[in-house]
Amino acid sequence: MIILGIETSCDETSAAVVRNGTEVLCNIIASTKDVFAQSGGVVPEDAARRQVELILPVLHSAITDAGLSYADIDAIAITKGPGLMGSLLVGVMAARTLSLVHNIPLIGVHHTLGHLSSIWLEHSEEPTFPCVTLSVSGGHSDLWLRSSHTDGKLIGKTKDDAAGEAFDKGAAMLGLPYPGGPSIAKAAESGDASAFNFPIALSKEKTCDFSFSGLKNSLRLAIQKHDGDLEKLRPNLAASYQEAICAQLCHRVSHALTLYPDVKEVHTVGGVSANSRLREMLQGNISPCALRTPKTIPYCTDNAAMIASAGYFIQLE
Ligand code: KG4
Ligand code: ZN
Repeated sequence: MIILGIETSCDETSAAVVRNGTEVLCNIIASTKDVFAQSGGVVPEDAARRQVELILPVLHSAITDAGLSYADIDAIAITKGPGLMGSLLVGVMAARTLSLVHNIPLIGVHHTLGHLSSIWLEHSEEPTFPCVTLSVSGGHSDLWLRSSHTDGKLIGKTKDDAAGEAFDKGAAMLGLPYPGGPSIAKAAESGDASAFNFPIALSKEKTCDFSFSGLKNSLRLAIQKHDGDLEKLRPNLAASYQEAICAQLCHRVSHALTLYPDVKEVHTVGGVSANSRLREMLQGNISPCALRTPKTIPYCTDNAAMIASAGYFIQLE
């Protein structure tokens, strides 16, 4: 079954063609993140305007790159939310129009299920359920106990900011460009992660929930305290801050594994799952469970291939 996926929930305009939920025929992503590099985050009206400009060329590239025509598409999977209203509307209107004109069924996909499904892309090995999935992006930090490709129980969520938001806001405080995750990871490469002892929220509690507001405040206070030295201290601050975010994420995954000892696999998905320190730390903490990450970095951040994959598994139900 061949599915055309469309994802326009934020500042990426993406269209992809995926066969049977796993085989990616093409995955076109036009990102406008560079437009927002200096503004510290996405401006919703500007993001929607960019979506309008990009949606038709991106759809055209996807169909052409896959070497197909609309007659070959069995279904269209579209992100129905959550996300920025203006951006979402552009994708939904495009998908509805294509569905009507070419008489192709439409499948609405929750953005989070899209991220959870990014793990199936180009992975041929069958998963072992139940598994624990750490889903971390700019909009959410969730811990799932999943019982099938489309079903699961939310066992932990953030009490305040999402992990990606903590990276983005931390980067803005450190004078680093948006998106903050890659900027902080880069700055951290030359830093000492033990230079600053940032707190790991809720570490004494038996919980699968997250909190990043206290950590963000600690970074702000450290920057204020060392006012004037930011240039010199930036790598150490970035490395220590990244370490504290990753340590908290790992701590909650480890706790989840004590609650569900029959779990054999841990997945991590979403933009923050691109972080190599997080992957390294998880790998060291979850033994004897296996760690699965999206096959390539563009499958971690927003992309339409994950939406097409989710659409495939939804229609199998
Ligand atoms: O999944 P995504 O593209 O969009 C949302 O659904 O939010 O995630 C974007 C988030 C941003 O907050 C960005 O800073 C973060 O993912 N991110 C990273 C890395 N790459 C992207 N965070 C940490 N390390 C990275 N390498
Ligand atoms: Zn996302």
